[in-house]
Amino acid sequence: MTTDFTRTGVLPRLITPDCLWTGGCIAASVPGFLAHYSCFLLKGARASVLIDTGHPMHAEQVERDITAFLGDRPLDFVFPTHGELPHAGLLERWLRKWPDAVAVGDMRDWHLYLPALSHRFRQVAPGDVLDLGDRDFTFLPAIWRDLPDSLWGWDPKDRILFLSDACACFHPHTPGQSDHFTSEIAPPDVPLMQDFNSKALHWPRFTDSTGSFAAMDALLAALQPRLLCSAHGAVVDQPFELMPLFKAGLAQAA
Ligand SMILES: [Fe+2]
Ligand SMILES: [Fe+2]
Repeated sequence: MTTDFTRTGVLPRLITPDCLWTGGCIAASVPGFLAHYSCFLLKGARASVLIDTGHPMHAEQVERDITAFLGDRPLDFVFPTHGELPHAGLLERWLRKWPDAVAVGDMRDWHLYLPALSHRFRQVAPGDVLDLGDRDFTFLPAIWRDLPDSLWGWDPKDRILFLSDACACFHPHTPGQSDHFTSEIAPPDVPLMQDFNSKALHWPRFTDSTGSFAAMDALLAALQPRLLCSAHGAVVDQPFELMPLFKAGLAQAA
């Protein structure tokens, strides 16, 4: 059976010719809403990188989708954006399935979890790049981060900014909306984003988040992204239009 990469109402969906959005949705802590647990496979002309591993609950689906999208090519890099289950829980599975794949990211603790695979970890820092053949995938500091090992990523060819836990937004529990872009559903709901940010990031409850806004504005102005890919929300195809809502979701959580 061939995998359908077009918009069908469920993941996967091809968001650019080289980038596949897959993963799945799980009931959120807010009744009636779903939370995405997404990952993204970026296929360059020479090498590929899986951004976040997918949640272990979705292992079969993610494996089906990335295998179909890779075709006869191997997976070259896996980039867990930080060391939490939805972002990194399938790292061992992918490294064993693709024996030449290398894990890239802030791998500072991973020798403790997977000591037998530590020779396949590559430590990177913001500013480092992965040469995928037709683009230099670039690691960025995670301005709105979860853990100290969080990193963001940037695809300069398709102008996609990968944001890990930032810019998360739930979508209504309506069948057939899991693969929609933000322009195809109702705008993100600020109280729901506050709830998510207080539980997933914690610091917005205790800290004045507004001090981080200038850094985010500067990053967006420099990169001019076309798409924002959060692990926990619809793919954002209106980055500048929706940024005030994402800021409100952080600033008002205290
Ligand atoms: Fe997280
Ligand atoms: Fe997360």
